[in-house]
Amino acid sequence: MLDISDLEVHYDGIHALRGVSLNVGTGEVVALIGPNGAGKSTLINAVSGLVPAASGAIRVGNDDLTRFKPWTVSAKGVLQVPEGRQVFSEMTVLENLQLGATALHGRPRDAGVEDVFELFPILEERSSQLAGSLSGGQQQMLAIGRALMGSPKLLLLDEPSLGLAPVVISQVFAALKKLKEQGMTILLIEQNATLALELSNRAYILDQGRIVLSGDSADLAADEGVVAHYLGVDAEE
Ligand SMILES: Nc1ncnc2c1ncn2[C@@H]1O[C@H](COP(=O)(O)OP(=O)(O)O)[C@@H](O)[C@H]1O
Ligand SMILES: [Mg+2]
Repeated sequence: MLDISDLEVHYDGIHALRGVSLNVGTGEVVALIGPNGAGKSTLINAVSGLVPAASGAIRVGNDDLTRFKPWTVSAKGVLQVPEGRQVFSEMTVLENLQLGATALHGRPRDAGVEDVFELFPILEERSSQLAGSLSGGQQQMLAIGRALMGSPKLLLLDEPSLGLAPVVISQVFAALKKLKEQGMTILLIEQNATLALELSNRAYILDQGRIVLSGDSADLAADEGVVAHYLGVDAEE
C-alpha cells in the first residue's frame, strides 16, 4: 500500500530525514516509534504532501505521490490524523466530521457519520457542541473520526496518545484495535512504544532521521536489548 524509499527531507539547515525506507502492506498496522525530534512527523507530513521531499520516492498503490499536493494526496485516500489533533474549535463536532468528508469529492457530507458514532458514541452525544469544549481525549476521537469520514485507504496517525491520561489512551487504542480488525491499513506514529508495539504487526524505530531497527512488533517488544536502548522511556503518563 505505502512504499517509501530513500526519503530525504531538509528544513533550513536541518537534515530531518536521512534516506528513510519503509513500507506498509494492505491491512497492516505498522508503528513508527522514536524519540522527540527523530523525524516522525516529518515523515508523515512528507507523505501528506505538507513538506517537500528533497529526494527519494513515496508511492501509494500505483501512484507516485512524491510531488503531490496535500489535497491530491487526501483525494487518493491517504488521510492524516495530525499531532495535537487540530480540530476546529469554533465549529461543532458534527461540522468537524462533515469537513472530513470533503476529502471525497461529491460524496454526501453525512455519509459515514453513523460509523464514526458507532466507534465513538460520545461524539454522537456531543455532536452539536463546539469542538473546543471537548476534553483532550474526545478531541482525539474527533480528529480520528474526521479522518474516517474521508474513507481512508491508508490512515496516518501522529501520536494519538500525546498528552492524554492512561484511561483515555486505552479508549483511543481500543478504537484503533477495532479499525485494525476491520482491515484498515494504518501507519501509527507513537512515542508510547509499549502501546504501539501491542497494536501493530510490524514496527520501525526512527532516531535522528534514520531507521535504526525494524521487525515484527512482538519480536521487538520481547528483545531486552531493544527495549533498554530504544523503548525504555515511554511518553509521560
Ligand atoms: N517546520 C520546521 N522547520 C524547521 N525545522 C523543523 C520543522 N519541523 C520539524 N523540524 C525539525 O526537524 C526535526 C524532526 O522533527 P519532527 O519530524 O517534528 O520530529 P518528531 O515528530 O519525531 O518529534 C527536529 O529537529 C525538528 O526541530
Ligand atoms: Mg512529531
